[in-house]
Amino acid sequence: ARITFIAHDGTETIVETRPGFSVMEAAVDEAVPGILGNCGGACACATCHVYVDEAWHAATGTPDAAERSMLDCAVDVRENSRLSCQIAMTAKLDGLVVRTPERQ
Ligand code: FES
Repeated sequence: ARITFIAHDGTETIVETRPGFSVMEAAVDEAVPGILGNCGGACACATCHVYVDEAWHAATGTPDAAERSMLDCAVDVRENSRLSCQIAMTAKLDGLVVRTPERQ
């Protein structure tokens, strides 16, 4: 499944990953700039913050309570903010587009 990461300066990085991996894992494996994933995906650091593209809101769902409270620690949180370690890739997310914040 393909994910496009768009940095705050507009630079695009396209990553191929397999279902079951999280968006954060896909980014860290390919050293995508702007995603740190310091806690390894435990929903405990908020350094994997991304903005989900409008077209992918419904498919990616909404954050659960644990993710929402961790998002409070992220920088410049918006309505479409997610922690990318909490988005598991599935075949239906093939083509997903997320933007990375200026800083984590
Ligand atoms: Fe730490 Fe996502 S990697 S919250």
